Amino acid sequence: MTQELQSIVGSAREAFAQARTPADLENAKAQYVGKSGRITELMKGLAALSVEEKKSRGAAINQAKQAIEAALAERRQSLADAELELQLKAEALDVSLPGRVREPGGLHPVSLTMERIEQIFASMGFDVADGPEIESDWHSFTSLNNPPNHPARSMQDTFYVDIQGDDGIPYNLRPHTSPMQVRYAHRHVKKHAALVAAGGAMPEIRVICPGRTYRVDSDATHSPMFHQCEGLWLGENVSFKDLKVVFTDFCRTFFESDDLALRFRPSFFPFTEPSAEIDIQFQSGPLAGRWLEVAGSGQVHPAVVRNMGLDPDRYIGFAFGMGPDRLTMLRYGVSDLRLFFDGDIRFLKQFR
Ligand code: PHE
Repeated sequence: MTQELQSIVGSAREAFAQARTPADLENAKAQYVGKSGRITELMKGLAALSVEEKKSRGAAINQAKQAIEAALAERRQSLADAELELQLKAEALDVSLPGRVREPGGLHPVSLTMERIEQIFASMGFDVADGPEIESDWHSFTSLNNPPNHPARSMQDTFYVDIQGDDGIPYNLRPHTSPMQVRYAHRHVKKHAALVAAGGAMPEIRVICPGRTYRVDSDATHSPMFHQCEGLWLGENVSFKDLKVVFTDFCRTFFESDDLALRFRPSFFPFTEPSAEIDIQFQSGPLAGRWLEVAGSGQVHPAVVRNMGLDPDRYIGFAFGMGPDRLTMLRYGVSDLRLFFDGDIRFLKQFR
């Protein structure tokens, strides 16, 4: 190879080495072996030479061209390697980073209370039933001895829905679980009809009905949606004394406290007579000494027993309605009811 050719090869190698990207490299290549590149120009010059000269000069130019192409291929490969290297770096996973953990879930505190109530009453032989949240006027009020225009209706500020009942009165979002007393009793009477017709004695009704209830009410201790748990025990020989025993037992088990005091404070409900609010009093802890209302209760009114399809001269018993939200607040020392319904994970996960 002549000096001239060697210097062309040398400068090509240098130009390729300086190319930082594949595009740079292709530009540099064009200057040597492209259509009007330096090697190509030299090839064109061969035409003017003799056959002998063509042979030797042509061979030398070809040698130079091959050397340039080899350098080009080598540089292409190293640029491609570098690019791959960069890409791998950019997409690299840092396996030492802590993973995104999915924390274990848990039951809502009010659900925990509901389960607890169900367990305790089930252990005392109570069935657990549930019923519709959209209720007829008859079930929510009239069957409970609270007919239209009765002043006691104002005790419950109710939501009505755009569905008319057969009586022309709109359905309501039940303001209490008490309609379940009559619904469950009907079910019970039907279930044992054959037995009774054959002269047998109807088994006692013993049931609790937990569920969601609704009222036009909203502040720190009232939510438009809240929970209640109804209780009903009806038979031929069930008395107010049984209510006191059962409810006292329930409260002491629920709060795990034997010295919890209970007070039955005379009150009024259209569907019970006599009626009482049930208050509890802790003997120790932050709430010690205060009377706290936890339920309404009473002996089922004869008119309600009749609406259940039973003879009030034969069947007697009691009902109660308690507030599981309230019980949850008292059990865990939570002072704002709204926290239960905000869905804030930071609050809820404390009960897991
Ligand atoms: N339903 C009543 C209320 O919501 C509570 C209650 C239930 C009272 C059963 C007596 C008997 O206030």
